Amino acid sequence: MNGKGDILIVDDEPNALTVLSAILSEEGYSVLRSGDVDTATEMIYTRPVDAVITDIKMPGKDGMYFFDYVTKNHPDVPVIFLTAYGTVESAVAAMTRGAFHYFMKPPDYPSLKSVLARAVKQRVANRDDGSPAEGFCGEYQSHIIGSTPEMGRLFETVEAVKTSQSNVLVCGETGTGKELIARALLDDGKTKNRPFVAVNCAAIPKELIEVELFGCEKGAFTGAVSRRTGKFEEAANGVIFLDEISELDISMQAKLLRVLQEREIERIGSNKKIRVEFRLISATNRDLAEEVKKGRFREDLYYRINVVEIKVPPLRERKDDIPLLAAAFLEECCKREKKKINLLHEVIHAFQAYHWPGNVRQLKNIIERAVVLSKNESLTLADLPGEFCLLGETTKRVSDGKTLKEVELQAIRDALQTCKGNKSKTAKMLKISRKALYKRLNDEQGVGASGISADIGNA
Ligand SMILES: Nc1ncnc2c1ncn2[C@@H]1O[C@H](COP(=O)(O)OP(=O)(O)OP(=O)(O)O)[C@@H](O)[C@H]1O
Ligand SMILES: [Mg+2]
Repeated sequence: MNGKGDILIVDDEPNALTVLSAILSEEGYSVLRSGDVDTATEMIYTRPVDAVITDIKMPGKDGMYFFDYVTKNHPDVPVIFLTAYGTVESAVAAMTRGAFHYFMKPPDYPSLKSVLARAVKQRVANRDDGSPAEGFCGEYQSHIIGSTPEMGRLFETVEAVKTSQSNVLVCGETGTGKELIARALLDDGKTKNRPFVAVNCAAIPKELIEVELFGCEKGAFTGAVSRRTGKFEEAANGVIFLDEISELDISMQAKLLRVLQEREIERIGSNKKIRVEFRLISATNRDLAEEVKKGRFREDLYYRINVVEIKVPPLRERKDDIPLLAAAFLEECCKREKKKINLLHEVIHAFQAYHWPGNVRQLKNIIERAVVLSKNESLTLADLPGEFCLLGETTKRVSDGKTLKEVELQAIRDALQTCKGNKSKTAKMLKISRKALYKRLNDEQGVGASGISADIGNA
């Protein structure tokens, strides 16, 4: 091994090759490069390397072809993909087959370097003890996972907004990762050591929020036994993160607006004005424009806090991220529980068929629970909540070539059997109404079944 390790980079774009090899050489790696797969195959044959970084789309043989070659002939050499938006699906497929990681082009170089360091470390460890590769890691940009175009666009916005001082509103359903994104906005090298002060407006009682935000002087009210610094002061020259901002009542909204306009606060019980410089990042899982319309949120405040709006898409709109997220949570959890557990394809398929009302948090919780309870080497559908079993069976049968109608009927029969013929329980398990279940059962006896699969998981 030379320096930090020998890396082979394959990309048909000469510029990309030059840039990446310069960066990695500077980092202390010894870099081999190739503009096509045939040359790369020769290179790796004559000189074993510690890791491969390859583009996917190339004229002639492509990155997937090379990945297959490497997996077959040098199974312990980790492969990292660089992909353009259009090739994400193949990268996801490769990940489930054991690729080490993949990055969207252009990659975030610090993340790429840290992933590469781990890949080489793993390769060296494997060479030493001969055990197989432990699979891939799913980390992307300060632990935020996502390789779908939706997340790619989100990361681009975060990059663009990071260096500005404008107020940002992060919106999205519960559990989509709003707080993670809010924290990522701080992470720009320059502001890294500045304070990030988070306040969850929903968690603090109405009477206390003002003290929490602005602080108070000793004796300002009964119970104010000492002076207290508010969150705005704590956040001086940094970021104050107001989570669930829609939960502030109208009078607090007015006070917040004043702080945003005047950049001054007064502690309760004092009329001394204190200048505060901060950046405001807010988050909400409500539709704030709608709240404004309904008179529950001040319009002027809405425009102030919403200079830049970042929408975090729900998980069901970026299902291709599910394998990556699942694998990362599994890895994290196994490490903590000191277990070694795989994910079966059937589980990933069931995950991808589900609609995830609780988004990423729900996925994380389901995996954690399954890992904690599992006594086997693989997580199967049986380790997941009931509805997943059904979804898993459904997707499996559809891919076996049965018609949707047959699959639906089979799902109903299975559920009935599981529930020993109890129709209320069956309907509950299928997440459809009893009426809908009766209709399907009647249909089965003659008229022709209508779809239940759309109802499963959407009820
Ligand atoms: N893209 C992601 N990569 C890795 N972990 C994620 C991602 N998105 C969310 N998570 C994890 O999911 C959980 C929920 O994320 P977070 O608290 O940021 O969501 P939220 O949108 O703020 O939720 P809420 O609306 O309930 O406040 C956290 O444990 C977080 O680490
Ligand atoms: Mg949150």
